[in-house]
Amino acid sequence: MLLDWKQALLPYEQAVDELVIKFKGIKREYYTANMISPIEDVTGRVKTVASIIEKANRRNIPLDKALDVLEDIAGIRIICRFVDDIQEVIELIRKRDGKDMEILEEEDYITNTKTSGYRSYHITISYPMFVQGEYKKIKCELQIRTLAMNFWATIEHSLRYKFDRNVPSEIKNRLKVCAEAAYKLDEEMDKIKDELMESQQFMESREQLINKIIHNIHELYNSPNVKNKNEYNYQFINLYQEGNIDKLREFNAELETLLKDIGE
Ligand code: GTP
Ligand code: MG
Repeated sequence: MLLDWKQALLPYEQAVDELVIKFKGIKREYYTANMISPIEDVTGRVKTVASIIEKANRRNIPLDKALDVLEDIAGIRIICRFVDDIQEVIELIRKRDGKDMEILEEEDYITNTKTSGYRSYHITISYPMFVQGEYKKIKCELQIRTLAMNFWATIEHSLRYKFDRNVPSEIKNRLKVCAEAAYKLDEEMDKIKDELMESQQFMESREQLINKIIHNIHELYNSPNVKNKNEYNYQFINLYQEGNIDKLREFNAELETLLKDIGE
């Protein structure tokens, strides 16, 4: 059987590109709305021809069926910071079910951790494509996992590869210990999540305040009626170095009153 792999894989390449853009778009939507995104990073890949052939052989799938049967020729990985974020991402995907994608299957390896120690949430979707004038539905595997789950899976995967799937039991056991550690890490991170959110919000509001002050000083510089303009700059730099947010707020209030007065 002759199969032009490059040609055959074209719609998969296109689907991966589109889906990466779509999920990165979701991340941008959150940022634009000044909200913290449940998506930290998105990557995608098309399975190599060598590993398509290997998987098809392993599963006794004829090569001419492999592209339609295998669900992970096109693969997207969505990385979250916290375990809770995974649920939010799942909901986002479910909302699109029947719209621009169709959910075929969900596999929860977070609740049902694999014996290897692998944890991840998988959603297999069917994604409509128009390539070379033809309509085709492409299967794609979405893997949703935390940074910790991803770290573990990436290392474990390369070891699996190195040992040609026959990882020595001693290493397997150590990997299970690592999986346990990654699980603990996720748990601990979850506990400090709220604190982290607060600090992020604090950092953002601090940055907004600094931007306002800089803007207001700039306005003062543009006004011909203000004397000792440089004084405000020095005062700002001193307060900035001192780092007291309340004093910076007071200072900004002064600037705003001043600007209002000279504006009247
Ligand atoms: P395979 O893809 O051959 O594993 O068959 P499958 O589709 O029946 O398996 P499953 O749905 O369990 O896993 C699909 C994908 O999840 C794999 O291709 C891997 O990317 C990932 N995966 C599953 N189990 C493991 C594991 O133990 N370790 C790592 N690193 N990845 C895994
Ligand atoms: Mg599967």
